[in-house]
Amino acid sequence: MEHENLKTKICLVGDNGVGKTSLIRRYVLDMFEDKYLTTLGTKVSKKEIEVSFPKENLVAKVDMLIWDIMGQHGFQELLKEAYFYGARGILAVVDVTRRSTLAGLDDWIACVEEVAGHLPTLIAVNKTDLADKAEFGLPEITERCDALGCGYFWTSAKTGENVEPSFQRLAAIVAEQQIWGTQF
Ligand code: GTP
Repeated sequence: MEHENLKTKICLVGDNGVGKTSLIRRYVLDMFEDKYLTTLGTKVSKKEIEVSFPKENLVAKVDMLIWDIMGQHGFQELLKEAYFYGARGILAVVDVTRRSTLAGLDDWIACVEEVAGHLPTLIAVNKTDLADKAEFGLPEITERCDALGCGYFWTSAKTGENVEPSFQRLAAIVAEQQIWGTQF
């Protein structure tokens, strides 16, 4: 088995309060907080993971820097160079209980890609534990994913559902791209 060491920066984007900080906290610390403290500026977390490519007989050790960025529109323009410089992947987060967060998505992704180029992207449809309050569903999500050429996961930072698989999947797509320059 061959080994490869990679460094990667991924950015979480999405409107205020969709759960970016909570997803990272669940993923990195396996914790959840009901209190809402809006992110001021940015916070960077780190996680070391492994991605296996059995067919290629390769294991990639990925040093992943996870950038949490405040969801305030307006700051986007002001700070985008600093936030998004060097990003390799995007976890775009929407809140299933607020339809407006879906509309904001294209803007966020365009903003990152203006700085970092076309990137592997995954949508996290968060707060699925509040499914009874859902304001949109599968048709809207698949429509966005088709338009953006990306995949999605239903996540809940509260229950932990699909949090690890979302980050792991994004890391795998990014690693593949870094190693082989594959299209996504
Ligand atoms: P900004 O930093 O302001 O952009 O917000 P954010 O996207 O980082 O959201 P944050 O993680 O701070 O979460 C906002 C609120 O939603 C908090 O009260 C969280 O507890 C709550 N929350 C986040 N994820 C979930 C989830 O999966 N389910 C439920 N029920 N609540 C969640």
